[in-house]
Amino acid sequence: MSTTQALYYIGQMSGTSLDGVDTVLMQLNHDGIQTLASHHLDFSGDFKQSLLELCNTGEDEIHRCAMAANELAKLYAQSVNELLTYSHIKADDVIAIGAHGQTVRHMPPYYTTQILNGALLTELTGITTVCDFRSRDMATGGQGAPLVPAFHEFLFSHDEDKIILNIGGMANISILSKNHGTHGYDTGPGNVLMDAWFGRHLNGRYDEDGNWAKCGQVIPEFLNDLLMEPYFSEPAPKSTGRELFQLDWLLEYEPYDYAAEDVQATLLHLTVQSIAKEIMKFPGTKQVVVCGGGAYNGELMRTLDSALNQVEVITSDQLGIDAQNVEALAFGWLAHQCMNGLTGNEPAVTGAKGKRILGAIYPV
Ligand SMILES: Nc1ncnc2c1ncn2[C@@H]1O[C@H](COP(=O)(O)OP(=O)(O)OP(=O)(O)O)[C@@H](O)[C@H]1O
Ligand SMILES: [Mg+2]
Repeated sequence: MSTTQALYYIGQMSGTSLDGVDTVLMQLNHDGIQTLASHHLDFSGDFKQSLLELCNTGEDEIHRCAMAANELAKLYAQSVNELLTYSHIKADDVIAIGAHGQTVRHMPPYYTTQILNGALLTELTGITTVCDFRSRDMATGGQGAPLVPAFHEFLFSHDEDKIILNIGGMANISILSKNHGTHGYDTGPGNVLMDAWFGRHLNGRYDEDGNWAKCGQVIPEFLNDLLMEPYFSEPAPKSTGRELFQLDWLLEYEPYDYAAEDVQATLLHLTVQSIAKEIMKFPGTKQVVVCGGGAYNGELMRTLDSALNQVEVITSDQLGIDAQNVEALAFGWLAHQCMNGLTGNEPAVTGAKGKRILGAIYPV
């Protein structure tokens, strides 16, 4: 054991895009958060496929879930160990890892399942692991999601009213208001449908910079049909996932009647319109700060910017925080909250009966 006091936290996130795991090494003090290093590990095509299959019902799920949870712990541990090696930090200097795990089912108000063998992650890293952050919020009547708004409030000081928009597989907004406090919810699909349609027609995991979507024309009647999805008009608190928005959802609308690139353009506009409609419900908003992988899709950002022409749209990179790292930082912060006996949820967001300390701890 180190004789000096451990200083750091590690945050880890693998989201609904199933692209891989983001890991950040961070320091928390009175001045806020400092990111010391970050790391991204892509999932292999086979592992992504096995996770995707676990998102739907199928044979022998308990065994496949447990095996995937072990594999995920090994990949999370590999990321942590690589990150520590190249940043010359020892495991003893890290207080805890906050690891989200992989959501394979999100079924509020009944249960939400983020697979990850936390015990194995502790064993393979020699660092205390905090995981299973969502179930306590759900146990007290919440959706268990989104959990990031409380962290967004902490990270993005709100001298003026702003909205933090995370565009991952799904998209979620955190409304940070001086007079009305913090709230937020999932607006619907982020990249998930664009990724699925792209993967169906072209090679690669996603439409780089939205270049394929840019070649297509939006199909107004098809877009209107997609926007009729009841989720978009449900009141908050609400959260969503692959149980609803995935390729099968899109196929029900018979996209094969249209040119493939026109469908891609329409899906990009679906993401933008479903987000913009929600943001416009908060007219005091001065700025929208975008994070998550969608911030790197230039066509998506330009379309969002023109849909929100009264509001300044920037990426978190422009505030010095890598858009790819924000969610992972949130789980490092949640680990810090848990280890210090501090609450991590925001009842106004999740619908929980009260604030709770989130997470299950696997001590080193
Ligand atoms: N250069 C790029 N051009 C277009 N899209 C991109 C680019 N880089 C990332 N993306 C999109 O971002 C996605 C990954 O985003 P991210 O990791 O934030 O999502 P996630 O893992 O689902 O996270 P979460 O569910 O926590 O929000 C990719 O699947 C892709 O669609
Ligand atoms: Mg990701």
